Amino acid sequence: MNVKWDNFFAERTKHITGSQIRQFFALTERPEVISFAGGFPGNDFFPREHIARALSKLVMEESCQALQYGPTEGSYDLRDLVAERMRREGAVCETGNLVITDGSQQGLDLLCRILVNTDQPVLVEDPAYIGGMSAIKSYGGIPKGIEMDSEGPIPAKMEQFIVKLTEEGNPPQIFYTVPNFQNPTGLTTSLQRRYEILDIASRYNLLILEDNPYGPLCYEGEVPPSYISLDREDRVIYLGSYSKVLIPGIRIGWLAGPKPLIEKVTLAKQTADLCSSSLGQQLACFLSREGYLDRHIMRLAELYREKRNAMVEAMKRYFPAGVKFNIPRGGFFIWVDFPDYYPTSRELLELALTRNVAFVHGEGFSCNGGGKYSARFSFSQPDIEDITRGIKLIGELLHDIETKCVIKAMGQ
Ligand SMILES: Cc1ncc(COP(=O)(O)O)c(C=O)c1O
Repeated sequence: MNVKWDNFFAERTKHITGSQIRQFFALTERPEVISFAGGFPGNDFFPREHIARALSKLVMEESCQALQYGPTEGSYDLRDLVAERMRREGAVCETGNLVITDGSQQGLDLLCRILVNTDQPVLVEDPAYIGGMSAIKSYGGIPKGIEMDSEGPIPAKMEQFIVKLTEEGNPPQIFYTVPNFQNPTGLTTSLQRRYEILDIASRYNLLILEDNPYGPLCYEGEVPPSYISLDREDRVIYLGSYSKVLIPGIRIGWLAGPKPLIEKVTLAKQTADLCSSSLGQQLACFLSREGYLDRHIMRLAELYREKRNAMVEAMKRYFPAGVKFNIPRGGFFIWVDFPDYYPTSRELLELALTRNVAFVHGEGFSCNGGGKYSARFSFSQPDIEDITRGIKLIGELLHDIETKCVIKAMGQ
């Protein structure tokens, strides 16, 4: 008799579902496809030689720490470095306020595990990072999207939503946000908005989960101060990551917050993995010392700026005038809005794949049914030549569609 797996899965796993965009990923990763879909760092930007030299040194000279299990909360040395980095950015942070995690995704998972109850609404941006919403949903939470404009989440909408949910007897307790160069829109929440949202959080007793993997990759000006540095009430939990500024392969990130929370997260992490990779932590530590990582980030900002510029220039040149897109000041993503007389972005993606070029359609990023005519384009991975070629191919597709729409309208 074949095993019926559904009979074996624990009740709580009913919340664990795949994302809408997963089905497309296999197609977008075909070698002949120019893909603007994945939000991965550029393969060519990994500092291979530095990493190889550092790993060899760590394995030969620091093997007790690099190859052994370590403390669940993370190596003291790395937490010390991260705490100093957080203080430089204005946050009140000691080593005791930190847990090292397996990338910020584990931080999100652990936080949802200890903070989110089944059927509890959790405020998120609309559109929002899919991995954040999946973590919320996998513990039974219900993401509720807050509309955004060019300055970030709209406070009045947020407050209306909180009042409504409270009246319905199910008030939210958490707001999850990616305030810098957001995934998927590339938007950065303005300073004024951060103050307004902190004020709302204070009045309605919300926690803010601030997820900031892209903030250091800033190509113009500066990012506003973080929520955690502006907070005076210990209600912000911050997630940082080495994935985008160094390599995702070591799976090292961190979570910063008030000590009672850190203690609970550490207990939860104990059963998840005992500790994060010791070798990864030692490598992050080694490369952070003597300013290497800071110099690397500055170099990355130059390289990604060139890619961003190439994509923006190509979109200006090849996309029909009715197609709107923002110009992000950092990060990896450009959000594109198509006219609503076009086919949906999901249909556009299918058509684009027949021309061997890919992006991510917008629906998967919205928990409110939005994103039908929007898409996320990532410029981080393809090289500049492919960026121009791929955007030109999509531009040709969009012009064909535009022509068909005009002919159809004339025939009516
Ligand atoms: C907004 C956001 N948060 C978290 C993550 C997860 O990153 P990490 O590799 O640190 O787990 C990503 C990855 O793309 C992301 O875009």
